[in-house]
Amino acid sequence: RQSIGMITTGTDALDALLGGGIETQAITEVFGEFGSGKTQFCHTMCVTTQKPKEEGGLGGGVMYIDTEGTFRPERVVTIAKANNMDPAKLLDGIIVARAYNSSHQVLILEEAGKTIQEENIKLIISDSTTGLFRSEYLGRGTLASRQQKLGRYIRLLARIAETYNCAVLATNQVSSSPDSFFGDPTRPVGGNVVGHASTYRIYFRKGGKNKRVAKIIDSPHHPASEAVFELGERGVQD
Ligand code: GTP
Ligand code: MG
Repeated sequence: RQSIGMITTGTDALDALLGGGIETQAITEVFGEFGSGKTQFCHTMCVTTQKPKEEGGLGGGVMYIDTEGTFRPERVVTIAKANNMDPAKLLDGIIVARAYNSSHQVLILEEAGKTIQEENIKLIISDSTTGLFRSEYLGRGTLASRQQKLGRYIRLLARIAETYNCAVLATNQVSSSPDSFFGDPTRPVGGNVVGHASTYRIYFRKGGKNKRVAKIIDSPHHPASEAVFELGERGVQD
Protein backbone atom coordinates (compact mmCIF):
# COMPACT_ATOMS: atom_id res chain seq x y z
CA ARG A 1 0.00 0.00 0.00
CA GLN A 2 1.31 3.43 -1.00
CA SER A 3 1.72 6.05 1.70
CA ILE A 4 -0.96 8.73 1.99
CA GLY A 5 -0.12 12.09 0.42
CA MET A 6 -1.26 15.49 1.56
CA ILE A 7 -2.02 18.60 -0.53
CA THR A 8 -1.96 22.04 1.03
CA THR A 9 -5.01 24.27 0.60
CA GLY A 10 -2.73 27.27 0.36
CA THR A 11 -4.22 28.77 3.52
CA ASP A 12 -2.93 28.30 7.05
CA ALA A 13 -6.44 28.35 8.52
CA LEU A 14 -7.83 25.56 6.30
CA ASP A 15 -4.63 23.50 6.55
CA ALA A 16 -4.85 23.72 10.34
CA LEU A 17 -8.50 22.66 10.24
CA LEU A 18 -7.72 19.68 7.99
CA GLY A 19 -4.50 18.65 9.73
CA GLY A 20 -2.28 19.73 6.83
CA GLY A 21 -4.51 19.71 3.77
CA ILE A 22 -6.42 17.28 1.58
CA GLU A 23 -5.41 13.61 1.71
CA THR A 24 -4.92 11.10 -1.07
CA GLN A 25 -6.82 7.78 -0.89
CA ALA A 26 -9.82 9.68 0.45
CA ILE A 27 -12.80 11.70 -0.69
CA THR A 28 -13.05 15.18 0.76
CA GLU A 29 -16.54 16.56 0.33
CA VAL A 30 -17.08 20.32 0.48
CA PHE A 31 -20.69 21.37 0.79
CA GLY A 32 -22.33 24.74 1.22
CA GLU A 33 -24.84 27.11 -0.35
CA PHE A 34 -24.35 28.99 -3.66
CA GLY A 35 -21.51 31.46 -3.49
CA SER A 36 -19.98 29.87 -0.40
CA GLY A 37 -16.68 29.39 -2.24
CA LYS A 38 -16.70 25.73 -3.27
CA THR A 39 -15.67 26.41 -6.88
CA GLN A 40 -13.08 28.99 -5.82
CA PHE A 41 -11.61 26.37 -3.50
CA CYS A 42 -11.43 23.91 -6.41
CA HIS A 43 -9.56 26.47 -8.53
CA THR A 44 -7.07 27.05 -5.71
CA MET A 45 -6.44 23.31 -5.35
CA CYS A 46 -5.71 23.14 -9.12
CA VAL A 47 -2.68 25.28 -8.33
CA THR A 48 -1.53 23.89 -4.97
CA THR A 49 -1.61 20.26 -6.18
CA GLN A 50 1.04 21.15 -8.76
CA LYS A 51 3.42 22.69 -6.23
CA PRO A 52 6.45 20.56 -5.36
CA LYS A 53 6.32 18.42 -2.23
CA GLU A 54 8.62 20.82 -0.34
CA GLU A 55 5.92 23.48 -0.76
CA GLY A 56 2.99 21.32 0.29
CA GLY A 57 1.88 20.04 -3.12
CA LEU A 58 2.28 16.66 -4.78
CA GLY A 59 3.92 17.84 -7.99
CA GLY A 60 1.10 16.22 -9.94
CA GLY A 61 -1.74 17.03 -12.30
CA VAL A 62 -5.44 17.65 -11.76
CA MET A 63 -8.53 16.19 -13.42
CA TYR A 64 -11.41 18.67 -13.15
CA ILE A 65 -14.84 17.16 -13.76
CA ASP A 66 -16.91 20.26 -14.46
CA THR A 67 -20.65 19.60 -14.41
CA GLU A 68 -21.85 23.21 -14.36
CA GLY A 69 -19.49 24.91 -16.80
CA THR A 70 -17.92 26.99 -14.04
CA PHE A 71 -14.24 26.12 -14.61
CA ARG A 72 -12.40 29.37 -15.47
CA PRO A 73 -8.84 29.01 -16.82
CA GLU A 74 -8.28 32.75 -16.32
CA ARG A 75 -9.01 32.28 -12.62
CA VAL A 76 -6.26 29.65 -12.45
CA VAL A 77 -3.93 32.12 -14.17
CA THR A 78 -4.60 34.79 -11.53
CA ILE A 79 -4.08 32.35 -8.66
CA ALA A 80 -0.92 30.99 -10.30
CA LYS A 81 0.55 34.49 -10.64
CA ALA A 82 -0.29 35.27 -7.02
CA ASN A 83 1.73 32.15 -6.15
CA ASN A 84 4.66 33.10 -8.42
CA MET A 85 4.04 30.06 -10.57
CA ASP A 86 4.06 29.73 -14.36
CA PRO A 87 0.39 30.05 -15.49
CA ALA A 88 0.84 28.28 -18.82
CA LYS A 89 2.55 25.33 -17.17
CA LEU A 90 -0.19 25.13 -14.54
CA LEU A 91 -2.95 25.13 -17.16
CA ASP A 92 -1.14 22.31 -18.95
CA GLY A 93 -1.39 20.29 -15.75
CA ILE A 94 -5.19 20.48 -15.60
CA ILE A 95 -7.36 18.08 -17.61
CA VAL A 96 -10.86 19.54 -17.76
CA ALA A 97 -13.71 17.15 -18.49
CA ARG A 98 -17.04 18.90 -19.03
CA ALA A 99 -19.88 16.55 -18.09
CA TYR A 100 -23.10 17.24 -19.97
CA ASN A 101 -25.40 14.82 -18.15
CA SER A 102 -25.20 12.37 -15.30
CA SER A 103 -24.47 9.37 -17.54
CA HIS A 104 -21.64 11.28 -19.16
CA GLN A 105 -20.36 12.21 -15.69
CA VAL A 106 -20.17 8.51 -14.74
CA LEU A 107 -18.59 7.60 -18.10
CA ILE A 108 -15.79 10.13 -17.60
CA LEU A 109 -14.73 8.31 -14.43
CA GLU A 110 -15.12 4.87 -15.98
CA GLU A 111 -12.61 5.86 -18.65
CA ALA A 112 -10.30 8.01 -16.52
CA GLY A 113 -7.73 5.41 -15.45
CA LYS A 114 -5.36 5.67 -18.40
CA THR A 115 -5.29 9.49 -18.30
CA ILE A 116 -4.75 9.52 -14.53
CA GLN A 117 -1.67 7.32 -14.94
CA GLU A 118 -0.25 9.01 -18.04
CA GLU A 119 -0.72 12.56 -16.71
CA ASN A 120 0.31 11.73 -13.13
CA ILE A 121 -3.03 13.05 -11.83
CA LYS A 122 -2.95 13.55 -8.06
CA LEU A 123 -6.27 15.35 -7.56
CA ILE A 124 -9.69 14.57 -9.01
CA ILE A 125 -12.16 17.45 -8.66
CA SER A 126 -15.88 16.77 -8.96
CA ASP A 127 -17.64 20.17 -9.13
CA SER A 128 -20.52 19.82 -8.57
CA THR A 129 -21.11 16.16 -7.75
CA THR A 130 -24.89 16.15 -7.48
CA GLY A 131 -26.13 19.04 -9.67
CA LEU A 132 -26.84 17.03 -12.83
CA PHE A 133 -28.39 14.18 -10.87
CA ARG A 134 -30.73 16.58 -9.12
CA SER A 135 -31.89 18.28 -12.31
CA GLU A 136 -32.39 15.06 -14.27
CA TYR A 137 -34.15 13.00 -11.65
CA LEU A 138 -37.19 14.89 -10.47
CA GLY A 139 -39.93 13.49 -8.29
CA ARG A 140 -40.17 10.75 -5.72
CA GLY A 141 -40.49 7.86 -8.15
CA THR A 142 -37.06 8.48 -9.59
CA LEU A 143 -35.19 8.76 -6.30
CA ALA A 144 -34.07 5.12 -6.20
CA SER A 145 -32.57 5.15 -9.69
CA ARG A 146 -30.89 8.48 -9.03
CA GLN A 147 -29.29 7.19 -5.84
CA GLN A 148 -28.19 4.02 -7.58
CA LYS A 149 -26.35 5.91 -10.31
CA LEU A 150 -24.95 8.48 -7.88
CA GLY A 151 -23.78 5.61 -5.70
CA ARG A 152 -21.92 4.09 -8.63
CA TYR A 153 -20.24 7.45 -9.31
CA ILE A 154 -19.14 7.84 -5.68
CA ARG A 155 -17.81 4.27 -5.55
CA LEU A 156 -15.79 4.97 -8.71
CA LEU A 157 -14.34 8.07 -7.05
CA ALA A 158 -13.41 6.07 -3.97
CA ARG A 159 -11.84 3.28 -6.04
CA ILE A 160 -9.78 5.72 -8.13
CA ALA A 161 -8.57 7.49 -4.97
CA GLU A 162 -7.23 4.18 -3.64
CA THR A 163 -5.97 2.66 -6.89
CA TYR A 164 -3.99 5.69 -8.05
CA ASN A 165 -3.20 7.27 -4.67
CA CYS A 166 -5.18 10.39 -5.67
CA ALA A 167 -7.01 12.93 -3.60
CA VAL A 168 -10.67 13.50 -4.48
CA LEU A 169 -12.41 16.83 -3.89
CA ALA A 170 -16.17 16.57 -4.37
CA THR A 171 -18.44 19.60 -4.03
CA ASN A 172 -22.11 19.50 -3.20
CA GLN A 173 -24.55 22.40 -3.06
CA VAL A 174 -26.92 22.72 -0.13
CA SER A 175 -29.71 25.24 0.27
CA SER A 176 -29.59 27.54 3.24
CA SER A 177 -33.31 28.24 3.11
CA PRO A 178 -34.72 27.26 6.51
CA ASP A 179 -38.01 25.97 5.09
CA SER A 180 -36.35 23.93 2.37
CA PHE A 181 -36.61 20.16 2.44
CA PHE A 182 -32.81 20.24 2.59
CA GLY A 183 -32.88 22.92 5.27
CA ASP A 184 -30.48 21.17 7.59
CA PRO A 185 -27.06 22.37 6.43
CA THR A 186 -25.40 19.28 7.81
CA ARG A 187 -27.48 17.17 5.42
CA PRO A 188 -26.09 17.49 1.91
CA VAL A 189 -28.24 17.27 -1.19
CA GLY A 190 -27.81 13.78 -2.61
CA GLY A 191 -28.37 12.32 0.82
CA ASN A 192 -26.27 9.66 2.42
CA VAL A 193 -24.82 8.23 -0.77
CA VAL A 194 -22.22 10.96 -0.83
CA GLY A 195 -21.90 11.26 2.91
CA HIS A 196 -20.98 7.67 3.69
CA ALA A 197 -18.22 7.36 1.12
CA SER A 198 -16.60 10.64 2.10
CA THR A 199 -13.78 10.40 4.47
CA TYR A 200 -13.93 14.07 5.28
CA ARG A 201 -16.90 16.43 5.05
CA ILE A 202 -16.39 20.18 5.23
CA TYR A 203 -19.17 22.73 5.43
CA PHE A 204 -18.58 26.22 3.95
CA ARG A 205 -20.75 29.14 4.95
CA LYS A 206 -20.71 32.86 4.25
CA GLY A 207 -19.36 35.04 7.02
CA GLY A 208 -19.42 38.50 5.48
CA LYS A 209 -18.44 40.02 2.12
CA ASN A 210 -15.36 37.96 1.28
CA LYS A 211 -15.14 36.09 4.56
CA ARG A 212 -16.04 32.42 4.67
CA VAL A 213 -16.19 29.91 7.51
CA ALA A 214 -15.29 26.23 7.16
CA LYS A 215 -16.27 23.52 9.61
CA ILE A 216 -15.53 19.81 9.62
CA ILE A 217 -18.65 17.70 10.08
CA ASP A 218 -18.56 14.41 11.96
CA SER A 219 -14.93 13.42 11.60
CA PRO A 220 -13.53 11.08 14.22
CA HIS A 221 -10.04 12.46 13.62
CA HIS A 222 -10.68 16.19 13.79
CA PRO A 223 -11.97 18.37 16.59
CA ALA A 224 -15.17 20.19 15.59
CA SER A 225 -13.43 23.51 15.21
CA GLU A 226 -13.95 26.20 12.59
CA ALA A 227 -11.62 28.04 10.25
CA VAL A 228 -12.13 31.53 8.86
CA PHE A 229 -10.75 32.26 5.39
CA GLU A 230 -11.23 34.76 2.56
CA LEU A 231 -12.02 34.64 -1.15
CA GLY A 232 -9.56 36.84 -3.02
CA GLU A 233 -6.63 37.14 -5.41
CA ARG A 234 -5.11 33.84 -4.30
CA GLY A 235 -8.44 32.02 -4.48
CA VAL A 236 -9.00 30.88 -0.92
CA GLN A 237 -6.61 32.76 1.34
CA ASP A 238 -6.01 33.70 4.98
P1 GTP B 1 -22.37 27.36 -6.33
O1 GTP B 1 -21.55 26.64 -7.37
O2 GTP B 1 -23.37 28.29 -6.93
O3 GTP B 1 -23.01 26.41 -5.35
O4 GTP B 1 -21.39 28.31 -5.48
P2 GTP B 1 -19.89 28.07 -5.02
O5 GTP B 1 -19.88 27.61 -3.61
O6 GTP B 1 -19.16 27.26 -6.02
O7 GTP B 1 -19.33 29.55 -5.01
P3 GTP B 1 -18.06 30.14 -5.77
O8 GTP B 1 -16.84 29.41 -5.39
O9 GTP B 1 -18.36 30.28 -7.20
O10 GTP B 1 -17.94 31.55 -5.04
C1 GTP B 1 -18.44 32.70 -5.61
C2 GTP B 1 -17.86 33.85 -4.83
O11 GTP B 1 -16.44 33.87 -4.99
C3 GTP B 1 -18.35 35.16 -5.35
O12 GTP B 1 -19.48 35.57 -4.64
C4 GTP B 1 -17.17 36.06 -5.11
O13 GTP B 1 -17.30 36.63 -3.81
C5 GTP B 1 -15.98 35.16 -5.09
N1 GTP B 1 -15.20 35.29 -6.32
C6 GTP B 1 -15.44 34.69 -7.50
N2 GTP B 1 -14.51 35.02 -8.41
C7 GTP B 1 -13.67 35.85 -7.79
C8 GTP B 1 -12.49 36.54 -8.20
O14 GTP B 1 -12.05 36.46 -9.34
N3 GTP B 1 -11.87 37.31 -7.26
C9 GTP B 1 -12.34 37.42 -6.00
N4 GTP B 1 -11.71 38.19 -5.14
N5 GTP B 1 -13.44 36.78 -5.58
C10 GTP B 1 -14.10 36.01 -6.46
MG1 MG C 1 -19.67 26.33 -7.79
